[in-house]
Amino acid sequence: MSSIPVSDHPQSVFRAHEIVLDSAYQGIDATHWKSLFAQAKEANLDRFIGDLFAGKPVNNSENRPALHSALRNLEKTPVFVDGKDVMPEVAEVWRRIEGLCNKWIGVTDVIHIGIGGSDFGPRLAIEALAHVPDIDSRGMRMHFLANIDTADLNRILQRALPNSTRVVIVSKSFTTLETAKNAKAVVKWLKDNGRTDSQISHALYAVTANVPAAKAFGVDPENIYPFWDWVGGRYSVWSAVGLPIALQYGFDTFKQFLAGAQAMDQHFRTAPLEENLPVIMALSLLYQQQKHQIKSYAVIPYADALDWFPKWLQQLDMESNGKSVDRDGQPVKYSCPVVFGSSGSNAQHSYFQLLHQGTEIIPIDFIAIREPMSHLPEAQEHHRILLSNCLAQAQALANGKKTDNPNNTYPGNRPSNLLILPKLNAYYLGALLALYENRAAALGALWNINSFDQPGVELGKVLAKPIEAALKSGAHVDADAHIDAVTAARINLFNQSL
Ligand code: F6P
Repeated sequence: MSSIPVSDHPQSVFRAHEIVLDSAYQGIDATHWKSLFAQAKEANLDRFIGDLFAGKPVNNSENRPALHSALRNLEKTPVFVDGKDVMPEVAEVWRRIEGLCNKWIGVTDVIHIGIGGSDFGPRLAIEALAHVPDIDSRGMRMHFLANIDTADLNRILQRALPNSTRVVIVSKSFTTLETAKNAKAVVKWLKDNGRTDSQISHALYAVTANVPAAKAFGVDPENIYPFWDWVGGRYSVWSAVGLPIALQYGFDTFKQFLAGAQAMDQHFRTAPLEENLPVIMALSLLYQQQKHQIKSYAVIPYADALDWFPKWLQQLDMESNGKSVDRDGQPVKYSCPVVFGSSGSNAQHSYFQLLHQGTEIIPIDFIAIREPMSHLPEAQEHHRILLSNCLAQAQALANGKKTDNPNNTYPGNRPSNLLILPKLNAYYLGALLALYENRAAALGALWNINSFDQPGVELGKVLAKPIEAALKSGAHVDADAHIDAVTAARINLFNQSL
């Protein structure tokens, strides 16, 4: 058993806008860092970062830029797509969101309908900011409806007050089945509860890159907030997709959220690679892949407020970089490991056994917040305990413990990062999300993967259609060109009475 060699990179503590990254427990020595930065240079990471922010078509399969950074470009410095500055349109949406916040009165419930990138970002932000002591909140019930499973729909419709509910349909494509079906069901609920067509039209909003489809659904054009095809769904919380943040916590708070992300963009664009937090985090993961062939990594925020963060990150990382071919269609050696996590210290009482003594080495990002998130008399003491657990876990994982009893032996050598946020508010939440977005982009560049498409999600959607038709018919099904023998037998299991 050997303890992890503490990093002898000249520096293992990095800072960006008061966010601290301590990579000492990565065990990366100066020679390895040198070779990692050489790999970054060889992969033209510098050039990629420039291209990303300049609006070059970094999403090469769809020939599009990935310009979510423009959505948090609060100074409105021109950003060009196809020779046109997009900032006036972005700023116009900000103006409309602010206007809406000012007239959003008497609303008790918001039903936000959307899935994947149209759900995780706003849901995470609403949840996280609800934990901020003294935050100015309108106190509306914010309901997030994503799954086609009617359980959530049912639960929400039992709680919401139809006369004072607003519905926001969020879908980049406006063709996503779950969202379309849920939107129809909620409109029907409004009707069934006596709301007139004009009242429904007043209550219905849409956020989309497909404005004609939102109009065709019946949303009043005045209530449609556009975004653009150069914003990926999983990068869209900075657009009007983040509307619930502004509506619940105010437009200034939403702007703070954007400002934190913008500050992290500025750091990612301008800091030398050797001091660049998203790059250091990307390279440390690459190092663990090359050294330990790691297949998964965990992110453990020691904060209940960030309990949704790992779920948001799963889509960001795995939908962006979970690919086995590179930008040129060639097989890759490395791509995105499986990402999982949940808030600590709860996670310690669940799967940390495996992290300490399992056969796999699983690197961890620990995230800690310097300040407690309540003013309760117990806050300081509980927070000390929370932080000491976080630090102790990292130390135990790194150093392990040798005993004569193999069962009680901890192998150690298990790498981790520690990220420290000075506090959790809209600004630092924005900065944290942008840090991981930029890390995902940097990893894509290092692996030579296009991080901005998701072709792998399509096949299942196509196959579901004939299967649904077969389930609907209720008749016995035989395998055919669309349904294989196993699935035909499974459909028959559902269709026959048990
Ligand atoms: O199926 C995956 C996906 O396309 C995600 O990339 C996206 O975030 C989600 O579905 C929802 O898409 P939309 O916003 O178009 O409804």
